[in-house]
Amino acid sequence: MPIRRPADIRSSEITDEALYRDRRSFIRQAAGIAAAGLVAPSLLAACDRGRTAASEEPAPDDALTPFEDVTTYNNFYEFGTGKGDPAKHAGSLRVRPWTVTVEGEVAKPGVYDVDELIRLFPPEERVYRLRCVEAWSMVIPWLGFPLENLLKRVEPTGQARFVEFTTLHDPEQMPGQKRRVLDWPYREGLRLDEAMHPLAILSVGLYGRMLLPQNGAPIRLVVPWKYGFKSIKSIVRIRLVNRQPVNTWQASAPNEYGFYANVNPAVDHPRWTQKRERRLGEFRHRPTLPFNGYADEVGRLYTGMDLRRNF
Ligand code: MTE
Repeated sequence: MPIRRPADIRSSEITDEALYRDRRSFIRQAAGIAAAGLVAPSLLAACDRGRTAASEEPAPDDALTPFEDVTTYNNFYEFGTGKGDPAKHAGSLRVRPWTVTVEGEVAKPGVYDVDELIRLFPPEERVYRLRCVEAWSMVIPWLGFPLENLLKRVEPTGQARFVEFTTLHDPEQMPGQKRRVLDWPYREGLRLDEAMHPLAILSVGLYGRMLLPQNGAPIRLVVPWKYGFKSIKSIVRIRLVNRQPVNTWQASAPNEYGFYANVNPAVDHPRWTQKRERRLGEFRHRPTLPFNGYADEVGRLYTGMDLRRNF
């Protein structure tokens, strides 16, 4: 097992993100974690690349968001609509045993135990920005593996054009599902080529630890160039399909949320601007970058598309 369960971690270790925040000690820290076998040895190269990948933004600005903020200010409507609700209530989620069903237009459908996925695809660290549609953002050292690794293993058929993801539906464990604030279960979708892009990962941890329930344990998507709502949490099903799926937010407010949801400062949300964002832990606002700063890497996926219409 490459990463630790929260129960294995002494409380004295939990402030470790202070080390992460300084880039040099971050790398030393990362080396220590890799040496301890907590994450794959490829960690160092991966995080170094991740931190400099966004050519449009100077790396020093990308200080990591403190662990405390990442784990206490969340959107996870299955546990309530307030930002503090998930940290308070998500303890009722049972994250083991947990399986992910991969099905639909694939030659080799299967049901994977999450620990088997972690064995098959050892998680590596990727420092990614995540920008929420509500104009807050974070920089997080995620632990995960490229979604494409799992998709290639199940062998998409020629009919597969999109990927649909579904969160657990169990109102006993997820009490927010007792109220119809959204059409449960939460669903998301990507075009197959977006899903196969190496920046799209399935995450099982952050800050060197397994995910806490409020962040989408035991396994969630992270798509750093899209608004945060695409990064669906606590996934139980991945289905390859031929037609573009409808995601939960699109179903609830189609004029406000589209299928693509690429971070785009030029397209305002109908009720607010998307030009600026505030990093959790900071007071100032900063300009939002196209594709959340990943334009060089992902822009080619959208060549010829009108991203004002396809928002
Ligand atoms: N996934 C599920 N199942 N339910 C949710 O309410 N909220 C989304 C996304 N994934 C959500 C979800 C939104 S709006 C955001 S901004 C991110 O999760 C927040 O992730 P974080 O709390 O780990 O920062």
